[in-house]
Amino acid sequence: MIDVHCHILPGIDDGAANLAESMALLRLAVADGIKRMVATPHINPGYFDNNRQTINQALAHLRAQISSEQLDIEVAAAAEVRVTADLMLAVERQQLPFLGSWQGQQVLLLEFPPSHIPPGSDKLIKWLSQKGIVAMIAHPERNREVQSNLALLEPFRRLGCLFQLTASSLLGDLGERHQTTAKQLVQNRVYHVMASDCHNVNRRPPRLTASIEQVAALTDLDYAQSLVFHNPQIITTTLDFQNGQA
Ligand SMILES: [Fe+2]
Repeated sequence: MIDVHCHILPGIDDGAANLAESMALLRLAVADGIKRMVATPHINPGYFDNNRQTINQALAHLRAQISSEQLDIEVAAAAEVRVTADLMLAVERQQLPFLGSWQGQQVLLLEFPPSHIPPGSDKLIKWLSQKGIVAMIAHPERNREVQSNLALLEPFRRLGCLFQLTASSLLGDLGERHQTTAKQLVQNRVYHVMASDCHNVNRRPPRLTASIEQVAALTDLDYAQSLVFHNPQIITTTLDFQNGQA
């Protein structure tokens, strides 16, 4: 399996606090059957001021430790980018790392605030598309406006966005509203990938296997597997899991 959304880089966001915690997360991921992970630290100006340099430095530290412990997992890095007023400038300056590519466009993992969908997000996504970038909407089931009205995602579906399910939402670990919304969106086959969005060992660990069964029960095994094998494989083909930089 390939996990395309996780906070495993040490000390640069609200995920792994240090290298020891990063390695603990990776060991859990290996035990769950995850072979590759794309670290996606937050980029949210004023809160998490990450950029290619901070991400690549943390990635290099983590890779060195993986190598020294001979852990059987490969990591690459991108970012989870919050929709803010700074985003367009960051795109223009080519400051944002991509998750990979999909149908000839570069994939940007995009996060709405949990409270609402910012007005103008559809225009932002059209603008990104003109730049050759397709937005992957991170965990829409966690957005309170979406929880109240699933139809709010329709414009984004029509614009060709990708959608990422967070595995723990479906298991109910993040609360009933998240779970109910995730189930409905799975049944509608809205999602393209499922990822762990892991942050820490105790409350938000890297787990995908248990959720595959849930997705399969709501749809079928082919669809469930496409979310953690086939689609993540296609998207991350252009990423370098060995030595490349984000
Ligand atoms: Fe995340």
